[in-house]
Amino acid sequence: MEMQAYGSGFAKAYNSRWSDFAREVAPHIRHFYETTAIGQLERTLLDLCCGTGQLAVHFLEQGYRVVGIDLSQPMLHFAQDNAREYVSTGRAAFIQADATSFRLNESFGLVVSTFDALNHLPDEQALMKCFQRVFNVCKGIFVFDLNTRRGLEGWNGISIDDGDEGTLLIIRGIYDREGDRAWTRITGFSPTPDGLFERFDQTSFNTAFEMKRVREMLLETGWRRVHFARIGELNVPIDDPEYERRVFVVASK
Ligand SMILES: C[S@@+](CC[C@H](N)C(=O)[O-])C[C@H]1O[C@@H](n2cnc3c(N)ncnc32)[C@H](O)[C@@H]1O
Repeated sequence: MEMQAYGSGFAKAYNSRWSDFAREVAPHIRHFYETTAIGQLERTLLDLCCGTGQLAVHFLEQGYRVVGIDLSQPMLHFAQDNAREYVSTGRAAFIQADATSFRLNESFGLVVSTFDALNHLPDEQALMKCFQRVFNVCKGIFVFDLNTRRGLEGWNGISIDDGDEGTLLIIRGIYDREGDRAWTRITGFSPTPDGLFERFDQTSFNTAFEMKRVREMLLETGWRRVHFARIGELNVPIDDPEYERRVFVVASK
């Protein structure tokens, strides 16, 4: 199966450039979770495709036990470092594993997967496997976001980002209508201490999933209630998820 683990040059850029999303959504997800019955009792989180761990750190600061899993060792390295005080006390653990086949010996009140991480899975079969794995370890609520087809169709274009720390990024996006996937290729040039530049390339894709199917597959897996929402109001179902560019999916047992 195609797998998409992020490389080390990209992990470093991700940690400083793309971690705001996780930071912003974390408190919304936690507040929503804490309004649910299980959220008042269980302060345990599985952060699926945890990346560089910024969402995990928010929950750790609020007293949760957190396990993060990701395919990419370089991304996990940043997560471990960002959460080092909690890793050292044993309240946090970051584990290299695949979202479609992981096994853990504990279960969690809340499972999350943010910043279109599940769009990184290649097809419905992989997504279904992931849902089953999550179902096995989740006692309560599963929240994740997806880019919709509408959102991914907007990926066509090129941008150049000459940001902080002297790193130059060239980001190219293309939506492949036939494969129903959006591709991005990010080329970065980061300064090294000796005044040279180090180049990295990261190509990744987002699969367009049909939201109707996503809902059906979650119900098939055994989740009892499933709805789509926007981040600011995770408790308010929206009727037409395909109309959004990005949606949050909320499943509960
Ligand atoms: C866009 S990042 C999101 C990271 C983090 N959740 C956040 O909100 O910033 C996607 C992450 O998914 C990971 N990933 C991709 N495919 C995966 C898989 N099959 N199993 C586990 N992790 C995966 C990548 O290594 C990357 O860290």
